[in-house]
Amino acid sequence: MAWISACRVEDIEQEGVVRFDHAGKTYAVYRSPHDEVFCTDGLCTHEAIHLAEGLVMDYEIECPKHAGVFDYRTGDAIRLPACRKLNSYPARVEDGAVLLQLPA
Ligand code: FES
Repeated sequence: MAWISACRVEDIEQEGVVRFDHAGKTYAVYRSPHDEVFCTDGLCTHEAIHLAEGLVMDYEIECPKHAGVFDYRTGDAIRLPACRKLNSYPARVEDGAVLLQLPA
């Protein structure tokens, strides 16, 4: 699977999240408090709300609609009403570019 350039790392605030659309799917790309990057599906598994409009706290994303919470490192749902995990995808930074390994 190829690596796709999504944005520059400085385009994501520290403890922030941005939306990235690719091949008809929406993803959420996170920058951790320690400048690591992560990527998950972009829609909440509860009611398909965009997670990039949510709140990042440490390694968690809080959904903006019902405050369900996911661990964005693994995609695990860790607070109801979110109960199904998100898919997560490999992400890394190279020369300041955020690279993602996504399905075609
Ligand atoms: S839509 Fe995300 S918790 Fe309900």
